[in-house]
Amino acid sequence: MIAHPSKSKAAAKSARAEFPWSEYPVAWQVFRETADEDQQTASHLIGRPSWPDRKGLVLIDIGSGDGRIVEAIVGNKLQKQHNISEVRFLDPNLMLLTKAKEAVRGKIPVVKPIQAHLRDEGVWPLSGRGSDVALAVHVVYLMEDGELTHLIENLPPETTLFVVLDAPTSVFTELWAETAKLYHDRAMAAHQTMERIRDRKVIVSEITASIPRAELRKHPTADWLLSLLCYRDMRSQNVSPRMLSRVHRILDQHTGPTGDVVHCRSRCYEFPALDGSHAAAAIGI
Ligand SMILES: C[S@@+](CC[C@H](N)C(=O)[O-])C[C@H]1O[C@@H](n2cnc3c(N)ncnc32)[C@H](O)[C@@H]1O
Repeated sequence: MIAHPSKSKAAAKSARAEFPWSEYPVAWQVFRETADEDQQTASHLIGRPSWPDRKGLVLIDIGSGDGRIVEAIVGNKLQKQHNISEVRFLDPNLMLLTKAKEAVRGKIPVVKPIQAHLRDEGVWPLSGRGSDVALAVHVVYLMEDGELTHLIENLPPETTLFVVLDAPTSVFTELWAETAKLYHDRAMAAHQTMERIRDRKVIVSEITASIPRAELRKHPTADWLLSLLCYRDMRSQNVSPRMLSRVHRILDQHTGPTGDVVHCRSRCYEFPALDGSHAAAAIGI
């Protein structure tokens, strides 16, 4: 049962300055329950050439949210059980960190929640030391100026980094140009940051997820989904008919030929580890 945005007191309490509006974490979770983005992202990541093909991996998930990406990675049949021996969830939101721990309970031997922003003093690269893989999935839009550069420039040499964000011409990015200029500009700046990196190898690939179009017409799910897609509260009393019609035109442009699904395309930037040796051996933490 999904609550209406205005009724979610727990969500309002967890409001943080970096969220587009107070109930964003709930909208994000509704989106992830409705779309297949977790599974698509997880199977894409573990199929990448730089995903380490060995046992005992140590992962750090930066902006882990409720841990669903890591849960989908450990649940994926391509990823042999017990290949991940430790996960560090790094997120400023305590409610989401608690959910993340629950999501992988009994599936990963060591689970370390770290309640922090990546930019907080002493957090990075310390929290990433000894990790084989660092994930930053759909978090860069919430980071402050300079935080993404700090992540990449201080990446431990033994760590492979995957940064996933909505593609420049994806439904999210095109909607944000209309409805959430700040996040549109941050997303475009993040792509530019990644394209400017010259001193490391970067591999670029694409992930496509889908949302059933019918869910965008159901009450109250549609309010949550539209708000998440637009990164602002999109309940009808808060939006002009003109904006709503522009939003639906963009959704139409990203709807597949059968009319059943809206496609969400993300770009995955992959920074292979510089040091091929096993991370745990590299730095004793
Ligand atoms: C859109 S959610 C994505 C969650 C998860 N990566 C996923 O794809 O399912 C973004 C998460 O990043 C967290 N976050 C926001 N700013 C952050 C920062 N500066 N450093 C680390 N995490 C941050 C938020 O609390 C939120 O849980």
